[in-house]
Amino acid sequence: MGRKTNKNMSENFKMIAKTFYGFEDILSEELLALGAQKINKGNRNVSFYGDKGFLYKSNLSLRTALKILKPVCEFRFKDINEYYDNIYSFKWEDYIGPTGSFLINSVVFHSNVFNNSKFTSLKAKDAIVDRFRDKFKKRPSINSFNPELRIEIHVNRNVCTISLDSSGESLHKRGYKKYNSAAPLNEVLAAGIVLMSKWDKKSDLLDPMCGTGTFLIEAAMIAKNIAPNLNRLSFAFEKWKDWDNELFEIIEESVRSKEIDFDYKLYGFDISNAMVKKAQKNIEVAEIDIDIEIAKKDFLNSKKTDEDKLHILINPPYDKRISIDVNVLYKKIGDTLKNNYLYSDVWIITANLEAIKSIGLRSNKKIKLYNSNLESRLLNYAIYPGTKKNKN
Ligand SMILES: C[S@@+](CC[C@H](N)C(=O)[O-])C[C@H]1O[C@@H](n2cnc3c(N)ncnc32)[C@H](O)[C@@H]1O
Repeated sequence: MGRKTNKNMSENFKMIAKTFYGFEDILSEELLALGAQKINKGNRNVSFYGDKGFLYKSNLSLRTALKILKPVCEFRFKDINEYYDNIYSFKWEDYIGPTGSFLINSVVFHSNVFNNSKFTSLKAKDAIVDRFRDKFKKRPSINSFNPELRIEIHVNRNVCTISLDSSGESLHKRGYKKYNSAAPLNEVLAAGIVLMSKWDKKSDLLDPMCGTGTFLIEAAMIAKNIAPNLNRLSFAFEKWKDWDNELFEIIEESVRSKEIDFDYKLYGFDISNAMVKKAQKNIEVAEIDIDIEIAKKDFLNSKKTDEDKLHILINPPYDKRISIDVNVLYKKIGDTLKNNYLYSDVWIITANLEAIKSIGLRSNKKIKLYNSNLESRLLNYAIYPGTKKNKN
């Protein structure tokens, strides 16, 4: 395979959206709905094709992507010299000026040449800097915080793919999470769970242990078809040489115009006063035109008062630091759901795979996910008349 490069910015090009384990299907569905072409599922990523406007649109709109990469160069190499030469001969000046700044992040799998991703980055940095010095007598600098160009190097065996990171900070940083806690859900994880739970948006949605309000805010944006990153402060592509502010504004306007009405209620409880305040403040910052009610309430002493269908999402405490025994807590959650929440479709995400067995309800679905690096399960329970206690 020769060296393949992609230079033409106005035509369709390949992009790679990175995501979490288990999110490839839901991300592909999002991409399809957005109009991506040649969607191809990978391992924790999905590749697709689109033009520059689509790059902007996917960064603004994808709920379950962590980053959008644009591969610009791919080559095979058998030793460090060949690796260096390939990177040296790439036309970096198309992407960055001689006095610009860049940052390289590398990942390496099964390589005989590199056993250390830091060294992979270092060699690439040398090659880029040497090219600029030789051609322009000047060299761009390394900037770890605010580089003009973020370069991602992926080495798998003897194949190296070089991509530009179009997003910058992870796309879970939507901009609304001003008030955090010790165990908040990642926004991308929360959005993915709302989508996986197939909430039809024709019922109220409750998060009875809402913490900082992540499920509720993501669900509100999904209900109103509001793109998650419209309020984000910046994207890495804004510093690219081909940055097209006018095109971005057109795309942004068109994405904004897709907002729809939503007539049901979103509400949350938390037993902690501090959490209630944090959730309320985050909701305020998110500026979603929707009423989300947060009450200080013990879910275990709460009750649904009608026979309307209710969609419930719960991310209960899962560790040993809470004041009551976690197995007892999970049993009480199960009892509360069964006795007080008839006509509910319930989805629970937990990293405590032992305690969840105490819930005493039969799950319809069990999906393996990761919450940070904790192996977790997303479980679904349908609470309807006749729902029996059962082994999990
Ligand atoms: C793992 S955290 C939820 C984090 C949340 N998903 C977020 O994104 O911030 C669990 C929350 O459950 C709350 N909690 C614990 N027991 C509760 C109870 N009996 N009723 C209501 N909330 C409870 C805790 O105060 C905590 O905020």
